[in-house]
This record gives sequence, C-alpha cells and structure tokens, in this order.
Amino acid sequence: MALYPFIRPLIFRLDAERAHLLTIGLLGLRTGTAFTPEPGWTPTLETSVAGLRFPNPIGLAAGFDKDARVFGPMLNLGFGFVEVGTVTPRPQEGNPKPRLFRLEEDRAVINRMGFNNEGQAAAGKRLEWRCGKGIVGVNIGANKDSADRIADYVAGVRAMSPVARYITINISSPNTPGLRQLQDEEALRALLSAIEEARPADGPPIFLKVAPDLGEDEPEQIVRVAMEHKIDAIIVANTTVSRPPLKSRFAREQGGLSGAPLKPLALKALRDFRAASGGKLPLIGVGGIATADDAWERIRAGASLVQLYSAMVYEGPGIARRIAAGLVERLKREGFANIAEAVGTE
Ligand SMILES: Cc1cc2nc3c(=O)[nH]c(=O)nc-3n(C[C@H](O)[C@H](O)[C@H](O)COP(=O)(O)O)c2cc1C
Repeated sequence: MALYPFIRPLIFRLDAERAHLLTIGLLGLRTGTAFTPEPGWTPTLETSVAGLRFPNPIGLAAGFDKDARVFGPMLNLGFGFVEVGTVTPRPQEGNPKPRLFRLEEDRAVINRMGFNNEGQAAAGKRLEWRCGKGIVGVNIGANKDSADRIADYVAGVRAMSPVARYITINISSPNTPGLRQLQDEEALRALLSAIEEARPADGPPIFLKVAPDLGEDEPEQIVRVAMEHKIDAIIVANTTVSRPPLKSRFAREQGGLSGAPLKPLALKALRDFRAASGGKLPLIGVGGIATADDAWERIRAGASLVQLYSAMVYEGPGIARRIAAGLVERLKREGFANIAEAVGTE
C-alpha cells in the first residue's frame, strides 16, 4: 500500500525548503544500507545511451540531491539513474530564503535556489565512497561570483570526471544571472570547445542541459555546436521563466517554474530538438513528467531517457516504480520488445 498520500499532508505543513531538508535527512538515514545489485533493473526497459547501460530510462532530475547525499536510496527506490548537483567549484549559499515554493493547485514548483551547494570537493568525496552499481551523473555549474565562467565548467569537468558516470553541463538555470546566455551560439562554441579540450580521453560522457525558453533557431544552433564538440546527449529541459496561467498565490514568485504547467513547453522543446538533430544525438526528456503516459509520450517524441523532480513532490517516492510498470505494459500492448525501439516513433 502506498504510504505517501498519508504522509504528504504532514510534509506539506512545512514550508517547501524545510520539507525538502527533512526528506533528504530521512532518506540519508538509509545511506548505510547495502544496495541491492540493480534495484531498478527491468529487462524490457533496459537501454544504452552514450555507452552507458541504464537499468530503466526513468531518472531523478538534478536539484533534488544537490550535494550527493541520497543517490543510493533514490536508486533503491527504482530510479534507473540519478543526477546529483548542480555543484559549483566553490561552495555557495544560494539566494536568500524563501526561495522554494509549492504551487499545490497547479501541481507545480517555483524555485530560485541559485545553486546552493557545498561545492564539488564535498560531493566528490561522497561519490568516491559509493559502493555498488548504479548510474549517478553529476550536474555542474558556475559560481555566481565567478570572473570566468568557462573556467568554472572546465574545473568541474576535471574535478568530477573521476567520480561521475556522466557529466551534465548546466547552462540553463534561470537563477544565476546571465548563465543562460552561454546558450548563445558564440558563447556556447567557446564553452564547448574549452570542455572538449579539457575532458580526459577516458572520461565519462558529457551531456548538455538546455532551457525550454529558446528562440526559434536556437535548437538547431545548439545541436550543431553540440555535435561539433562531441557532446553525447542533450537534456531538454530545465525550468521555465515563462508563466503559463497558474492558480496558486505563489504564481508571481520569481524563479524557474517546473511540474505540470511546464509539460507542454518541455514536450515542444523536445520535439524541436528531435527535428533539429534528426535522431543523431540522444535526447533526455524532462519537465512535467508525472505518469507512464507522460514518459511514453516523451519517448515517442524522441527521448531515449526521461527525468523528473516536481511530480515526486506530489506523488511520492514510489513514482519511478509506478512509471516503470506502466511503461512495461505499454511496450507489451504496442508490440515493442524493448523501450529503445519506441524512441522517436511518434
Ligand atoms: C527545487 C528545484 C531545484 C532544481 N535545481 C536544479 C539544479 O540545481 N540544476 C539543474 O540542472 N536543474 C535543477 N532543477 C530543474 C530540474 O532538474 C528539472 O529540469 C525541472 O524541474 C523540470 O522537471 P520537473 O517538471 O519534473 O520538475 C531544479 C528543480 C527544482 C524543482
């Protein structure tokens, strides 16, 4: 029986950031437990992307486990992979509180956390100690007060390559002023060529995470530059700065919006990237995914993998297993032997 519907009202009595810290604390109590070999392994959902074998395609998106404290328990809950971070070279506080808001009526979240994190060295140590298998990627960013943002990403690639199964270059957070300008063609070229030079020959694959708020030509430009510089996959997308109609009293809070209202935007962005890449560059679909139907739609639209965060706040930690079960059913119903066959078939 699912317990979360009973626990949720208690958690929702706390403000959103306290609730998050409590959840991380409780999950962390389980860090010492031994991992079962591959808790999320589902034969028909197993898939390979960028040379990595994923036990299922449902990942935990960046921002939940910023400091790499609970990736073990999250894998044990059935996620096929976990992306920790964003971590920056130096620790930083992030923005003043309150900076995290639950928009309950909208099944959404607004956050302007601003890369609060303990820094790459601290996360690196926790990742080094990890035992067992499981795909844990590391999402990296630049410090807010950095004089040279490209140097911060290069430092991140060097520091995290030894402990990450993949690295995500996050240039799409709306909460570090100016960061998203790194998506502009010339800036992106400068960034990705520096990263290409810095990445170790035997290092992990490198993914690029983009915003859902792009201009018409940008997906095509980004795909071209990414492929020129050997990026292994693109994650579409981060939170939006746009405000579709919302009911909650927090609708006007500044920051990035995620959850249900982001779904149509993120799906459109994914389709744009699929059209621009013609299936030559793996895509990871994120934004408003809450059900197996949502995940299936994203996979049919071209996502090799999916990730989620906000829906877990509303549906609880059993969500990965529920979506996996739903996907297995759909594969059977539609006559596919494996999830990889369904990618881009819409
Ligand atoms: C509280 C919160 C913090 C987040 N922090 C990060 C972050 O540090 N780095 C990042 O790349 N994305 C971050 N995200 C964005 C998510 O990874 C994801 O792209 C976005 O929330 C859309 O997915 P969802 O609708 O399933 O939440 C954050 C999202 C939320 C709700």
